[in-house]
Amino acid sequence: MEEIDPRTLQVKSAGIWLKQWFVLTSGTFEDFNAMTVGWGSIGGIWGRPFVQVVVRPGRHTFQYLEKYPTFTLCAFSANYKNTLMMMGTKSGRDCDKLAESGLTIVASKVVDAPFYREAELVLECRKTYWQDMNPGNFLSGYIEGNYPDKDYHRIYFGEIMRAAGEAAYRG
Ligand SMILES: Cc1cc2nc3c(=O)[nH]c(=O)nc-3n(C[C@H](O)[C@H](O)[C@H](O)COP(=O)(O)O)c2cc1C
Repeated sequence: MEEIDPRTLQVKSAGIWLKQWFVLTSGTFEDFNAMTVGWGSIGGIWGRPFVQVVVRPGRHTFQYLEKYPTFTLCAFSANYKNTLMMMGTKSGRDCDKLAESGLTIVASKVVDAPFYREAELVLECRKTYWQDMNPGNFLSGYIEGNYPDKDYHRIYFGEIMRAAGEAAYRG
């Protein structure tokens, strides 16, 4: 893994979210939870590089995002697809997902939330903003169908404080 300047980070925009996914980890090295996320974005705001993730309030990880100021986003190679599927279908409320995943946690350099040795891209992020989705502002009819339980996502922005990964992610 090489250090990457977050301002020149290169990702496959929609593809890395919708096809490759990330593991979102919030908390501290001693007390964290993680889940797979496939909806979000990476870009810039307020002059700084940032990520946007959307998390439903029922996720166990939601409690950690509310309690702790930092999170990490980790991307993995296709070899870890089954692991990410497990982390996106089981809840840390019911099982020890880290043990089941076989992944190895590593202390982050600049945030409290840890990352994984097996990741090919690590983004260490500090929360800068949150907002709940307002269904009154949905402008396309298909969107509401994602919320049969009306559990609209909470949107979190995180400033990318540090990025590290394989050379392909360097600008
Ligand atoms: C491919 C994939 C992508 C997902 N993306 C999201 C997402 O962006 N936001 C979200 O709230 N849940 C998402 N989920 C669902 C959570 O990962 C899932 O509910 C998980 O079990 C929550 O774990 P937790 O209760 O331990 O936090 C996704 C699941 C999968 C399989």
